[in-house]
Amino acid sequence: MKSQPLWWQSNTIYQIYPRSFQDSNDDGIGDLPGITQRLDYLQWLGIDAIWLSPIYPSPMADFGYDVADYANIDPIFGTLADFDLLLQETHARGMRLILDLVPNHTSDEHPWFVQARTARENAYRDWYIWRDAAPDGGPPNNWLSYFGGPAWTFDPATGQYYLHLFDPKQPDLNWRNPAVRQAIHDVMRFWLARGVDGFRIDVIWMLIKHPDLPDNPPDPAWTPAEKPQNRLAHVYDQQQPEVHNVIRELRTVADEFPDRVLIGEIYLPIEELVTYYGAQLDEVHLPYNFNLLKLKEWSAPAVRDLVERYERALPAGAWPNWVLGNHDQPRLATRVGQPLARLGQMLLLTLRGTPTLYYGDELAMEDVAIPAERVVDPQGIRAPGWGRDPERTPMQWDDTAGAGFTTGTPWLPLAPDSTRRNVALQREGSRTPLALVRRLLELRRSHAALTFGTYQTGPVDHAQIFAYWRNHGEERMLVLLNFGQEAVQLDLSAHGAQGHLLVSTLMDRAGTLDLATVSLRPYEGLLMVCLT
Ligand code: NOJ
Repeated sequence: MKSQPLWWQSNTIYQIYPRSFQDSNDDGIGDLPGITQRLDYLQWLGIDAIWLSPIYPSPMADFGYDVADYANIDPIFGTLADFDLLLQETHARGMRLILDLVPNHTSDEHPWFVQARTARENAYRDWYIWRDAAPDGGPPNNWLSYFGGPAWTFDPATGQYYLHLFDPKQPDLNWRNPAVRQAIHDVMRFWLARGVDGFRIDVIWMLIKHPDLPDNPPDPAWTPAEKPQNRLAHVYDQQQPEVHNVIRELRTVADEFPDRVLIGEIYLPIEELVTYYGAQLDEVHLPYNFNLLKLKEWSAPAVRDLVERYERALPAGAWPNWVLGNHDQPRLATRVGQPLARLGQMLLLTLRGTPTLYYGDELAMEDVAIPAERVVDPQGIRAPGWGRDPERTPMQWDDTAGAGFTTGTPWLPLAPDSTRRNVALQREGSRTPLALVRRLLELRRSHAALTFGTYQTGPVDHAQIFAYWRNHGEERMLVLLNFGQEAVQLDLSAHGAQGHLLVSTLMDRAGTLDLATVSLRPYEGLLMVCLT
């Protein structure tokens, strides 16, 4: 281990969903100049790196995850000049900027696909995945789109089906075609040469499919409580052995530039997830760890078990990371409730590894109920009830009509609590979720134990408490998290006489603690330095 961690090891990443962060031109949709205006806020909060969901020209069938031009900016978000200014202003504040790379599919309006669908002989035909109909005229196999319905759409002009693991307007690229690889590598170089600090790579584990495209078998673990489109096991449409070669090539391209990061979007169980670091740590630097995000039971034993399994599974030299929210999953405060959301932030910001924070979670924003007529997410349209609009609503800046986000009509409804839950109000309070996140980020930056100290479970054996050490050199930091509704008293005198409490999740106490009688209130988390 180097004495100085690399920036993407010590940094806290903040995900911005650009449509919803800050509107600067009153059209109700967030944009790049809006983000630039809010950089001072992010710096004040203590964020080091920003990841932007896609900002490229797009028909917005999947709100930018359907890219029609990889090397430009959608006019909704601004111009390349706006982007360059955002990048410059980000760097001027000592922060990093990470873009979203969407290499699994393009928009059906991308010139490559427009060409490909003109004729079977077209030079771009093989850039996508085309097959004849099954003998009954139906789709070539039984694969399902993640958004619902078949993963194939018939294209009458050339009489074949094309594959789309997501929306019909998102045809999958054929990663077995070297020309496709080359083209995406060039896209990476375009942005890396412009100065971006890395990429979060969309559905990276799906990039290459089984060459014969066999039917997927039913998933025996599926229950009707889950999305109907999840009823098949993803045996042939994702996680093929060849994907690791593809990722190694992406890494080689990133390594042409100094000090960049690749982060892979990967929803897989821990043991499979960690293979995406690469056998020689030569794939993505950070395979996104969504296991907390997907955790159903927020109890001390369940969280401890997860953290220990992850720590054990990490290959030697691999750097951990943790995520509590993103634009595809219900928000933290909605999943676990407000009291546990505070505990969640302490967990995220004190565990070993790079944390990613989703915009608005620092305010403990909640999912917003979207009336049926305002549902715009393609998944919400194709699989009613499974929409992702609720976690994508505008950032709540203040208590004005547009919440400080826009003076126009916001593209998604504002949260009904935006007059009570917003940055302006929470900045004034000393015990707010925002004050807590800011304090934790400040502590993360000022205590090496929190960034690159070791992790060790212990020393408490109590059903409601998850406790762990973060130690570095002489410094011994202890995190105590009470996941239960009962107050708990602990005798930790075996570990020293006194502790110096740095922060409680309730933000109402700090200072010296007698380790013989440490008390935690319901759902309280404590971060302390133990003095010997
Ligand atoms: C994962 C992205 O996070 C999600 O928002 C998108 O719909 C799919 N990939 C398809 O690009």
